[in-house]
Amino acid sequence: MNSGNMQDFFKGKTVLVTGATGFLAKVFVEKILRIQPEIQKLYLLIRASNSDLAEQRLQNEVFNIDLFRVLRAKLGEDFSSFISKKVVAIAGDVAIENLGIKDEKLKNEIFQGIDVLVHSAATTKFDER
Ligand SMILES: NC(=O)c1ccc[n+]([C@@H]2O[C@H](COP(=O)([O-])OP(=O)(O)OC[C@H]3O[C@@H](n4cnc5c(N)ncnc54)[C@H](OP(=O)(O)O)[C@@H]3O)[C@@H](O)[C@H]2O)c1
Repeated sequence: MNSGNMQDFFKGKTVLVTGATGFLAKVFVEKILRIQPEIQKLYLLIRASNSDLAEQRLQNEVFNIDLFRVLRAKLGEDFSSFISKKVVAIAGDVAIENLGIKDEKLKNEIFQGIDVLVHSAATTKFDER
């Protein structure tokens, strides 16, 4: 997909991304937010025991890294409000039924509302049992 196609495709879409703290998904999230600010919503599934901890991981491991410096520079002081409008951190685990999402209302909202699922959660350890 070239950038033009990606821009058109993701306009107005609601997207769920798994593995959001991982290498590939971070690059995807940054690119989408930079080239298509009119994306409807990005739900990012993150391993954490509750939504506050998921949000904390999202800030520390995703948005506060150097990868986002171009978007930060582009949006300036609007960066945080843009992110909170577009991005929702979801506490979950893909190895658990229904992605381990405990909040029923949120789970239904996500499962009924998403247009695209980007599944990037994986174990990449070569010595996994
Ligand atoms: N990196 C590459 O160059 C490359 C190239 C081609 C294909 N791929 C494939 O793309 C996928 C992602 O690769 P990556 O390099 O981004 O891997 P990565 O950096 O190791 O990221 C893996 C992500 O999956 C999450 N995760 C693992 N188990 C999970 C679970 N049970 N529930 C929810 N999240 C879970 C991890 O979360 P935690 O932070 O909580 O551990 C992390 O966010 C893999 O399938 C890989 O084989 C990667």
